[in-house]
Amino acid sequence: MAVTGIVLVLFLVAHMLGNLKMFAGQTSFDHYAHWLREIGAPVLPGVWFLWIMRVGLLAAVLGHIAAATALARRARAARPVRYAHRRKVQGSYAARTMRWGGVIILLFVVYHLLDLTTGTLNPVGDPSRPYANVVADFAPARWYVTLFYTLAIVTVGFHLRHGLFSALRSLGQQTPRGERRARLVALLFSVALCAGYLAVPFAVLTGLVD
Ligand code: HEM
Repeated sequence: MAVTGIVLVLFLVAHMLGNLKMFAGQTSFDHYAHWLREIGAPVLPGVWFLWIMRVGLLAAVLGHIAAATALARRARAARPVRYAHRRKVQGSYAARTMRWGGVIILLFVVYHLLDLTTGTLNPVGDPSRPYANVVADFAPARWYVTLFYTLAIVTVGFHLRHGLFSALRSLGQQTPRGERRARLVALLFSVALCAGYLAVPFAVLTGLVD
């Protein structure tokens, strides 16, 4: 769970930083997107690096789901008889929504790939013009797209907050003080990541980026 989670967090940070290049303008963002397809050249031909990254990401997502399923099965096997009176579930909202949060994020990623990678669901839909695709996506008339992205990104934030807290608690000091620190770091990290992701759609929606 932790190893695949860390790979996905590293991707999320890199992708968020890359998205912020939208504030540097069209030439800069399109150049960056173009460069993503050329990393590794001339050692690796064409878009090889991109495909190696995609296969790695897919393996991390599948591994993450497999680990979650195995953990849930183990928990059920440890208690085959259901509780007659289930006590109110303890834990934060983030902790209680991990499974459905994960499903929502997965559905969002499928939509997102059809929107900004293949261009199928995007008004411009030209993979060679990523800046124009993003601006068209979050235009004020399509406020519902910004709303959908916002909900998905907040879901990512909640998922990350609990995932990161669990990982830090496992790896760090298991004392009340260590736990408090892990909770704070996970919260700050998730809020920063959400803010970084939300900056782009809201900048387009409000006309700051066009
Ligand atoms: C407002 C937020 C976001 C924006 C503006 C955005 C923008 C983009 C763009 C422009 C691309 C296409 C890049 C290219 O083909 O050159 C892309 C690809 C992608 N994004 Fe996002 N993204 C956002 C949020 C997210 C989130 C939250 C996730 C994950 C949960 C995500 C996962 C991906 C993935 C997996 C790809 C495909 C990478 C590839 O294989 O080519 N994105 N995104």
